Amino acid sequence: MTDDMPQQLAALETPAVVVDLDRLDRNLARVADYAANHGLAMRPHVKTHKSPFVAAAQLRLGACGLTCATPREAEVMAEVCDDILVAYPPVGSARARRLAALPSGVRLTVALDSEDAVREMARAARDAKREVAVYVELDLGMHRVGAATVDAAVALARRVSETEGVRFDGIAFYPGHVREPIGEQDAQLSALDLALSRAIERFHDAGLPPRVVSGGSTPTLWRTHELPGVTEMRPGTYVYNDRGTVVTGACGWDDCALTVLATVVSTAVPGQAVIDAGTKALGREPVRGDSGEGFGQLQEHPEVRVGRMSEEHGILDLSETTWRPVVGEMVRVVPNHVCVVVHLNDVAYGMRGERLERRWPIAARGREIPSA
Ligand SMILES: Cc1ncc(COP(=O)(O)O)c(C=O)c1O
Repeated sequence: MTDDMPQQLAALETPAVVVDLDRLDRNLARVADYAANHGLAMRPHVKTHKSPFVAAAQLRLGACGLTCATPREAEVMAEVCDDILVAYPPVGSARARRLAALPSGVRLTVALDSEDAVREMARAARDAKREVAVYVELDLGMHRVGAATVDAAVALARRVSETEGVRFDGIAFYPGHVREPIGEQDAQLSALDLALSRAIERFHDAGLPPRVVSGGSTPTLWRTHELPGVTEMRPGTYVYNDRGTVVTGACGWDDCALTVLATVVSTAVPGQAVIDAGTKALGREPVRGDSGEGFGQLQEHPEVRVGRMSEEHGILDLSETTWRPVVGEMVRVVPNHVCVVVHLNDVAYGMRGERLERRWPIAARGREIPSA
């Protein structure tokens, strides 16, 4: 523990991000075990924690590498990991060059869906005198990025295999459209399985067998083995979980490891209490696209939601509770979408039991440009 760090929650200035380390350890171990038991390579997405401290724990538990979205994440994670996937199109020469400038000892893979991205990544790789592995991204229902047809994906893989500086290594997809509770995902998982196995077959027929098939999300995490084509899984949110994860059943309420510690700053208006965590601490993320569900829920009083927010004010709705908070009281808010909350903060505090054990910087947040 750092010497000048407070040992009790009550001494922290709020709002502050607090991580229950026992829950974090449990979440990490549970998913690492699942991956190992099903023979799946684990390449967790760091966008949720943005921290080398948590990433190092994932790697100790057997992760084969890490997944990043931004060049900043990749640069920071290169301090602890030598096998990095950037699951985001490397478009724009600044982005491609920044990725190619990662330490030469890092095995870099990018996921992409266009010839422009192939060209740009290959040029940057050649200039940096390295080779970059490529996963061709397929759209299997999310309709965000990814080749829309298998023909287009195979053609892109062929282009990669013919281009100096890049190497075709596999295919990737993100099942982010599957948000149903885990017991209600059968139809969508069957459709995914069918589409994926057909795609894999076509790549084999084309003489471009994918070494890796990379997919996975937190809502579908525990059913990844039902997509037998998948060889590598990339969950991110599972480290901390949030209200959204609870709703899908991919975790229980007691598995939410990260809360925003906040202080009640006003009870002047009857029927509500105001905390010092608003949109700039919690984000304005819906749970299921429905803002009527509030913007967070109190860990100790789950019947209380953050019903409204301004930038620095969160308004607790007290209509469903007999609890009457007083000014100065501290509460812990389980956020709707934890990844955004992490991104809004510089530091996370880790507690075990009632004591603060450590703090760590959210080092990969933001977009800091490396100095020339
Ligand atoms: C490409 C990609 N892979 C993996 C993940 C991790 O998914 P989840 O946050 O559901 O764990 C994300 C999340 O945004 C993603 O965009």
